[in-house]
Amino acid sequence: MMASPLLTVRRLTCLPPELLQEMERCGMESLGESAPNRWMLPVIASWGLLYVASVDNKIIGSAQIMRCMEAGDLYMDAFYIQPGYRRVGCGKKFLFLLKKQLGQLGFMRLLATMDPNNGAGVRLYATAGFEVVDNLPDYYGKGCHRLLIAAPLSRKR
Ligand SMILES: CC(C)(COP(=O)(O)OP(=O)(O)OC[C@H]1O[C@@H](n2cnc3c(N)ncnc32)[C@H](O)[C@@H]1OP(=O)(O)O)[C@@H](O)C(=O)NCCC(=O)NCCS
Repeated sequence: MMASPLLTVRRLTCLPPELLQEMERCGMESLGESAPNRWMLPVIASWGLLYVASVDNKIIGSAQIMRCMEAGDLYMDAFYIQPGYRRVGCGKKFLFLLKKQLGQLGFMRLLATMDPNNGAGVRLYATAGFEVVDNLPDYYGKGCHRLLIAAPLSRKR
């Protein structure tokens, strides 16, 4: 098994064509049809927050974030680690560094939705300090339920 690789996290604010293509490909590989596509990625990068995790300058994961109407709250979506980098702690590290950066920006809470049947996601979010705050029945259509989860953010360095 691969040792836990050195991972860095950065925000992308603009997506030149090659990077856009790369992000679209990575998203499809990890999330399939629910991945943000070339029409959504630039919107999030410009008007929301688009983060990537990299190892050796190669993008291996991403998360998109938007600001909620509730002051201090952010909502995270499309969080993934590329298949070849899973199960070695990258998801946990990415989420830890992301929460730290978002906390330093002054936000108080990170929300997300979780599929209760996604074993990897459930485990990851539990270890990263998320708690279930609501049930969202039929959130993505009939029978496609989600749980609303939240984790506190801190300004601590
Ligand atoms: C969910 C996902 C981000 C996890 O990334 P990862 O880098 O493999 O996660 P880590 O290696 O940091 O593991 C985090 C925890 O989850 C557990 N875990 C990871 N994959 C798992 C799996 N397939 N089944 C059960 N547990 C799993 C790990 O054992 C670890 O638990 P621990 O802290 O108790 O040891 C990754 O599987 C993924 O991108 N999946 C597709 C998209 C997705 O489901 N996104 C998240 C939900 S929206």
